[in-house]
Amino acid sequence: MDWGLKNRISRIIKPEDNRAVMLAVDHGYFLGPTERLEIPRKTIRPLLKYCDSIMLTRGVLRTSVDASFPVPIVLRVSGGSSIIGADLSNEKIVTSVRDAIRLNVSALAMSIFIGAKYEHNSLVNLGNLVNEAEEYGIPVLAVTAVGKELEKRDARYLSLSCRIAAEFGAHIIKTYYCEDFEKVVSSCPVPVIIAGGPKLKEREALELTFNAINAGAVGVDMGRNIWQSDNPVPMIKAVRSIVHEHANVQQAYDLFKKLVKEPQKPLAISQKQNNKQKPTKQKK
Ligand code: 5RP
Repeated sequence: MDWGLKNRISRIIKPEDNRAVMLAVDHGYFLGPTERLEIPRKTIRPLLKYCDSIMLTRGVLRTSVDASFPVPIVLRVSGGSSIIGADLSNEKIVTSVRDAIRLNVSALAMSIFIGAKYEHNSLVNLGNLVNEAEEYGIPVLAVTAVGKELEKRDARYLSLSCRIAAEFGAHIIKTYYCEDFEKVVSSCPVPVIIAGGPKLKEREALELTFNAINAGAVGVDMGRNIWQSDNPVPMIKAVRSIVHEHANVQQAYDLFKKLVKEPQKPLAISQKQNNKQKPTKQKK
């Protein structure tokens, strides 16, 4: 593996333990202002220092993350359909590798839609993106099984999706947890991370995390189960304890409950100002 590619992957999957906590906040690219991600800066800011990397679009990156904060960026570059559009699987690469380089990203992310109407296009997108990104030593994260395809969430379907993504050259695969997840991981020759999916009770989301890690996932790319929690910071810390500190479900849940009871540290003044910008008076 080329030095640059290896270096970028190591920003995402920590070489100390081969594990990854990625925070997913790219939902708006097809869902619009998703619940509790309506003001991205407000959602992202308190969580930034607890994730190893963050997955988002260039629009949210440029407007809602401070360029001086040293968090590795996984940039979503596919899109083109919305939740109310004709077909969610009809995506193209909508952000150039050139812009991704300008944004100093650590990886590019895009979705593939196995079994969907636009399966072919999404796979060709993946092949082309890997060709281009590898020229610059940038890894590609393939996201499998979003939207309708999620209904087929079983080991057979997810193994098929993940394996195809790896065969096309994806360097990391993001998929969903399912029963017999070991089969998904063992038949995929590159690292697998899991999405959290729709909001669960905190204990259940921690269980999902634990089971996925136990079955061989290297980590999570989790969104709603962190920032739709009433206690997002305790939740991401609890997820981290499973991914990086070998906590079991009970230990992680106990940590979550303990952190919920602790008084929240007030935000620094500059952070407060950023979160609550006063409207400026218009001159008549
Ligand atoms: C959508 C995505 C999201 O990032 C993914 O669904 C992860 O978020 P969540 O944990 O909320 O499911 O890639 O295409």
